[in-house]
Amino acid sequence: MGKYRTPLRYPGGKQRLTPFIEEILASNKITNGNYVEPFAGGAGVAIQLLLSGKVDLIHLNDSDYRIYAFWYSILNKAEEFCHLIRTASLTIDEWRKQRDIVKKCDRRKLLSLGFSVFYLNRCNRSGILSGGVIGGNDQKGNYKMDARFSRNDLIRRIEAIALVRDKVSLTQFDAEYYIRHYVAALPKNTLVYLDPPYYEKGSKLYHNFYGKTDHARLAQVIQSSLKHKWILSYDCVPEVLGFYQKRRHFFYGLQYNASSVYKGREVFILGDSVKLPSESSLDHVNKGIQAYTRKSLTSRA
Ligand SMILES: C[S@@+](CC[C@H](N)C(=O)[O-])C[C@H]1O[C@@H](n2cnc3c(N)ncnc32)[C@H](O)[C@@H]1O
Repeated sequence: MGKYRTPLRYPGGKQRLTPFIEEILASNKITNGNYVEPFAGGAGVAIQLLLSGKVDLIHLNDSDYRIYAFWYSILNKAEEFCHLIRTASLTIDEWRKQRDIVKKCDRRKLLSLGFSVFYLNRCNRSGILSGGVIGGNDQKGNYKMDARFSRNDLIRRIEAIALVRDKVSLTQFDAEYYIRHYVAALPKNTLVYLDPPYYEKGSKLYHNFYGKTDHARLAQVIQSSLKHKWILSYDCVPEVLGFYQKRRHFFYGLQYNASSVYKGREVFILGDSVKLPSESSLDHVNKGIQAYTRKSLTSRA
């Protein structure tokens, strides 16, 4: 199962929602279809769907050049990338070097940048690129910087993705542009899952974050321009519920480890043309996610 997982750790990573998304694909009869993430990040759901054959093509987009560099490198230079993993030295000196490469963000050196992003993602607390190293600079913590750097497992994950690279389309657009110009051209047999930066804590977690007016504008673009079936997840705040007040929604809980602050309620919002799975098929999904208001899963909120 490990090889079906994304190699990136992501604060708020949505991999555990995969069974729910699979049910959405089935109830909307999207078979051999396209699956799109305009805010891909670690793309945990997309990778699992593709590797388990639930969709034919995945479209990953993230405006953060560093995230793009990572995906570009494993899709196009997997062999070199895996060699870098095999030979990486896991010391604080090396960590500082990798941190400098990420800071400089030299766009001409995609492989080096992509690898440094991966290195920090695996060695930093909660995978946050601007965060501290696991175990601290003196490496005296219970867990050391290699705690999440199991080379063989990570190499297997990357090799599995590289094998299906022809089925992955990677871009680095702003999501609004992407929705208007890229997604619009995709066939009907497509599901779009949007997972924008959190409304409240996004600026601490991600490099490219949204301000309040950005969230409002995005809501406009999604609801007016996105003609495909779409679903959207957010942290549960009144402003977000306000932006999407005419859409169906339900609340759920995921346990994150970025900090206890992020434990708690999130909201799923659904485009009008999305058919929800039956209650019974959602039962097993609830093991992975906790739906707080089961009733609103099937009725318009
Ligand atoms: C909540 S994370 C996505 C996490 C992802 N669903 C996962 O499971 O790993 C949001 C992502 O959106 C990206 N992002 C922020 N602003 C963006 C924008 N304007 N357009 C596209 N991507 C953006 C961030 O770089 C970040 O990777």
